[in-house]
Amino acid sequence: MATNKPGLMEHEKFEALRALASTLNQVSDLDVMMETILSEARRFVGAEAGSIYIREGDRLLLSYSQNDYFVKSESAKDFSGYKNQEIPLTGNSLAAYVGREGRPLNVADAYDIDLDSPYSFDPEFDRKNGYVTRSILTLPLSDLRLETIGVLQIINPRAADGQPRAFERDDEELMIIFSSTAAMALERAQLVRQMLLRSVRMAELRDPRETTLHAQRVAALAGLLYEDWARKRSLTPAVIKKNRDHLRMAAMLHDVGKVGISDQILNKPTRLNHDERQEMQKHVLIGLKLFEPVFSELDRMIYEVILNHHERWDGRGYPGWINPDTGLALPGHHGADERPLGKKGEEISIFGRVTAVADVFDALTSRRVYKDAFDGDLACQIMIQESGHHFDPELVDILLLNLDLAKAVRRRFREY
Ligand SMILES: [Fe+2]
Ligand SMILES: [Fe+2]
Repeated sequence: MATNKPGLMEHEKFEALRALASTLNQVSDLDVMMETILSEARRFVGAEAGSIYIREGDRLLLSYSQNDYFVKSESAKDFSGYKNQEIPLTGNSLAAYVGREGRPLNVADAYDIDLDSPYSFDPEFDRKNGYVTRSILTLPLSDLRLETIGVLQIINPRAADGQPRAFERDDEELMIIFSSTAAMALERAQLVRQMLLRSVRMAELRDPRETTLHAQRVAALAGLLYEDWARKRSLTPAVIKKNRDHLRMAAMLHDVGKVGISDQILNKPTRLNHDERQEMQKHVLIGLKLFEPVFSELDRMIYEVILNHHERWDGRGYPGWINPDTGLALPGHHGADERPLGKKGEEISIFGRVTAVADVFDALTSRRVYKDAFDGDLACQIMIQESGHHFDPELVDILLLNLDLAKAVRRRFREY
């Protein structure tokens, strides 16, 4: 039996595997799922780094990586991990080989693989980043029909004294059980993502600006902004994680209500007049109707995001203090003309505030039929001008501090 190993002790393994199923069960968003699977896999065996590949037809998409060696902050760990690199399943990389064969592969030293092996290690990443990969355990993630849906790779386990070690037989056995639980959770999260994107596609049929890529970028940015905001408050990591999981899914759906707005208004090439604007604003109430009644915490989050994503920090947004059933102002919350007052500042749900910042920033940095994509500097200038007017100033500050992560999000969900 192995000695001098960090990761789990022998007597902890059964309990850890049991807890894993319940930890993964609490997650539904695909990206949060990949992040959780990787963190847990690395914790189980004390590994420094790891990656998840998702299978798309005859390719593997390197989707998510973590590497403690490069990490300074928690938030950077999550987001610098965004990858978007494809490899053919027929290739000779370790991941492709395992994806094809459907069996785990334990390589003690990546730089000491026989030349006549059917797989090889690509040292490109190491060379570029000054990293040294040694021991690599690569596992297939297979569905119940034993079809490969992805590949999990964990790298460089450490001994208790921090020195590199190789993966041992018992690590391998533990991780084989781990990956069967992880694969089921991953498959469920993929199904959830597909359902959400199908709803977004329905709205996209009406409004070509609301693409699935825009929805996924808004989700990722909103999650990033919320996480930083929440960390500064006394919220527990478990609450932050749950809210981020739900928020990411909800943010994708911010504009699904556009499915009920007429094409005439959505596709009008010139500025909308007053009446048309009023009509367009109804997409908020239509969106709410799609998610009533509220059954779950996720429904509640979706409801809050849709209801609040067009409110403005200065109180000049919409729909304001309304009764969503009637669309009329709540008692005591209207002006002399009976129109509802806008919500202001922290009256607006934080989940609506982060979605507003993410939505507008992504629209500014995207090409639209009526404009080119603004470069990062111009987009930032506009965000700064609107700080305290349209947007919560604290969230604009968080965005500006995390621009490299925002760029990583754009690369991950890029338009072709
Ligand atoms: Fe909207
Ligand atoms: Fe949008």
